[in-house]
Amino acid sequence: MNSFAGKRLLALVRDGDYAHAGEEEAIERVFGDLPKRSDRWLLDVGCGRGGTADYLRKRGWGRVVGLDRDGESLAYARARYPEVEFVEREACAAPRYLPRRFTQIYLLNVYYALEAQRDALLALRQVAEEGAELRIFDYLDRGGFAEDPLEVDGESIVPHPVVTEAVSRDLAARGWRLLSVELLSEEYRGWYAALARRIEKRAPAIVDRGGEEALAYLRAVYRGILGKIEAGLLGGVLVRAAAA
Ligand SMILES: C[S@@+](CC[C@H](N)C(=O)[O-])C[C@H]1O[C@@H](n2cnc3c(N)ncnc32)[C@H](O)[C@@H]1O
Repeated sequence: MNSFAGKRLLALVRDGDYAHAGEEEAIERVFGDLPKRSDRWLLDVGCGRGGTADYLRKRGWGRVVGLDRDGESLAYARARYPEVEFVEREACAAPRYLPRRFTQIYLLNVYYALEAQRDALLALRQVAEEGAELRIFDYLDRGGFAEDPLEVDGESIVPHPVVTEAVSRDLAARGWRLLSVELLSEEYRGWYAALARRIEKRAPAIVDRGGEEALAYLRAVYRGILGKIEAGLLGGVLVRAAAA
């Protein structure tokens, strides 16, 4: 679901420009404890269609820059959310192309998609202000998912979920101090069950937009994720770290 067409289809069933588990409820879960401050600069890494960046900006968490490598998603985001700045680049290229440093950096269902997770952690550390905080909200491999992954049409659907020990080690080696690891597996189960129900409710609109194939694909992906969560292989996690 990292393609532009995929994200557009997803927006049909997600009620907004979000391509992460739990949509607005998850945003509140991730940022609810963060005081609102108009002078804070946030960096949304893998911002997709820009819904989260604008949600945080509009509600007073600070000024937001969105970074994504997908030009089509960013063209949509720029037109829809002109008050947010969007930069079309790879996460690892952040230090070369971002105009400033940030006090809050976050990734919502992006870390699992990064081919070069460690390089990205290093690049993001380089655009972090002194004392900045990083939040990674993502799928968690609860043990056994790597050996029994989810594939649809030969494509790996959650290629690199968070592995707690690995992310702790990788953060420390790239200038981040781990603050907390919060398990959100029950929340993920509820969010994916709700999403699977919404896909069925909106099946006619999905077929209208993308054909029977799109519906079959969405079912395979989201029932598949729910199945892995229910089997205890996959879950959700929020990792917080500070610039060391
Ligand atoms: C599942 S979507 C999540 C989008 C958004 N964070 C949200 O919550 O709606 C993953 C996003 O990560 C972006 N992405 C994946 N790998 C990336 C990379 N190496 N650099 C920048 N963006 C990347 C994709 O283009 C896509 O927009």
